[in-house]
Amino acid sequence: MAFDPFHSARLTYRAMEDADDDNTFLHSVQLDIEALSVNTRNLLAPQNKVQSKKLGEFLRDGCLLGVIICLNPGTDLNTTAEAVPIGFICLKLSEGKSSHSRASSIGLSIVRQYQNRGYGSEAIRWILGYGFEMAGLHRVGIEAFGFNARALHLYEKLGFVVEGRRREEVWFRGKWHDFVEFGMLESEWRKRQEEEGKSWIDDTAA
Ligand SMILES: CC(C)(COP(=O)(O)OP(=O)(O)OC[C@H]1O[C@@H](n2cnc3c(N)ncnc32)[C@H](O)[C@@H]1OP(=O)(O)O)[C@@H](O)C(=O)NCCC(=O)NCCS
Repeated sequence: MAFDPFHSARLTYRAMEDADDDNTFLHSVQLDIEALSVNTRNLLAPQNKVQSKKLGEFLRDGCLLGVIICLNPGTDLNTTAEAVPIGFICLKLSEGKSSHSRASSIGLSIVRQYQNRGYGSEAIRWILGYGFEMAGLHRVGIEAFGFNARALHLYEKLGFVVEGRRREEVWFRGKWHDFVEFGMLESEWRKRQEEEGKSWIDDTAA
């Protein structure tokens, strides 16, 4: 297989189109209130299609990289002959005039029925590789609310370091929760790559 960085073992990463199918998919992701509640700092509110479309525009135009995560045909739950969209992932642009510091952060969501099957891990591993190897980043961050036990577990497991905990910054369901900031440096990522001995792209057929 010729070089193609937009694949990992089970997943393909493709552009978000300004097309009905993709807008409908993204809207369905945003309609999962439980997922939305761990992905927004805004007061929780039902999302309309215009808001979902704005998220699509953000993924397309407002990120260093924003893609739809697709499960490859014939893989696990996908018995069809087509790649099935199962979520989105992005590397956000650094704010203001700070691009010289080469930092970015990850945002992502996986559709409920595909959660807890290792796809989030695979997609994060992949985008870290893309960020460090392709985009030349020095640092990649990721953030989670203190009540998102799965995300906290996953990010630490993937090697992110807790860099900050903004205490009681998030008001949710009648309680205060911390806002936890994680980061990974390029040197840390390279060390893990060496230890794991695994490529971040699917180069098995290369
Ligand atoms: C968080 C998310 C991206 C993770 O992706 P995923 O594909 O579900 O995650 P994976 O299957 O790769 O890994 C999940 C890990 O969390 C663990 N886990 C699941 N529920 C957990 C819980 N309640 N507490 C602690 N760990 C939990 C799983 O056991 C697994 O760890 P393991 O591999 O050590 O067994 C995805 O679940 C999601 O989109 N959730 C809703 C929105 C969200 O939380 N977005 C991120 C905002 S920061």
